[in-house]
Amino acid sequence: MHGNGIIPVSDSVFWVGAHDRTTDKFEGMWPLPHGVAYNSYLLTGEKNILIDTVKEHFIGGFLDRITEVLAGRALDFVIVNHMEPDHSGSVRALRGVYPDVKLIGNAKTAEMMENFFGINGNVVTVSDGETLELGGRKFVFAFTPMVHWPESMAAYDATDRILFSSDIFGGFGATDGGIFDDEADMNITVAEMERYYVNIVGRFAAPALKALAKVRTLDVGIICPAHGPVWRSEPGRVIDIYERLSRQETDEGVVVVYGTMYGNTAVAAERIARALAENGSPRVIVHDVARDDISRVTTDIWKHRGLVLASCTYNMELFPPMARLLRHLENKGMKGRYAGLCGTFSWAEASLREMSAFVERSRGGWTLVEPKILIKSGMKASDCALCETLASNMVRALKG
Ligand code: FEO
Repeated sequence: MHGNGIIPVSDSVFWVGAHDRTTDKFEGMWPLPHGVAYNSYLLTGEKNILIDTVKEHFIGGFLDRITEVLAGRALDFVIVNHMEPDHSGSVRALRGVYPDVKLIGNAKTAEMMENFFGINGNVVTVSDGETLELGGRKFVFAFTPMVHWPESMAAYDATDRILFSSDIFGGFGATDGGIFDDEADMNITVAEMERYYVNIVGRFAAPALKALAKVRTLDVGIICPAHGPVWRSEPGRVIDIYERLSRQETDEGVVVVYGTMYGNTAVAAERIARALAENGSPRVIVHDVARDDISRVTTDIWKHRGLVLASCTYNMELFPPMARLLRHLENKGMKGRYAGLCGTFSWAEASLREMSAFVERSRGGWTLVEPKILIKSGMKASDCALCETLASNMVRALKG
């Protein structure tokens, strides 16, 4: 029985991380309706080794947990898998308490360590694939560049078959009591992992596939990521989910996203959504781009092969919330998708032109489904017919 929130993963591995239920937005952008966990693991033995730290704000309880597990022993090493401050933020304070601790990372970690924290001593650098014996444990380091930053790496404890995977396999959501996959609510866990993947890591899907190829070569018994639950029962399940996301394997459904000021564009979007259902689309999801959170909208778009964008024009440009979504989608570099477009205007058309340019810039990532629809102010019978044609063409394209 441990106080201070310490959770044993095994006899010699202890979760000493932090649950954050007070930060409104991760990276200052992404809502956290279920909070987020910063996982840190303390491995005890001949040498005491900490894997990653927590956001600096949570240093108090974090140090208490480490102190309790160590019970007067020294902290010998901190393996820094990733320098984003949600994981490295407590390194400097930790060095203040344990001045002799050695930091283990790679050359890029060392550079960032100096740039972020002015730390340049007691840093041990490892290379990709290097094996390091630390106090009776054998670690293998696998570099996983761009998942999520250039210095990102995973540490595999070959002695206990535990993979400390950093951001890979991580998700939003504080783990409510159950930090293990067999205890967690899988509906929330998977949904929040998908939202984390798409919005934080999604741009780097190709590097993620390379990282997964390395993971697949390891004999992994337990996956300890830096966010989300510890996968001790079904580590293969999270690898499969992650691989599907990284391959951009999509479902047949259609996401309809509309931006409207006075509801006229919403009328067109609703007609398209209904016609999609009438034509047998297995899933139709409608989002209001000005109201629904962009990270959730983007996650739905990532997971489905079809997209219909319907937007008004605003001040001679695309409606700003829609423009923001398109910038975010463009950053993600989605492939193998189909897009239908419906623009509206009253006196200076821009929405259809700018949405068309988005499709063209994707260079085949998005295939345009005809007809492109342009509606002047309110919807007429002829516009309604075009919406129905677009929906039936979209369903045909997705089935084809
Ligand atoms: Fe969870 Fe890239 O930090």
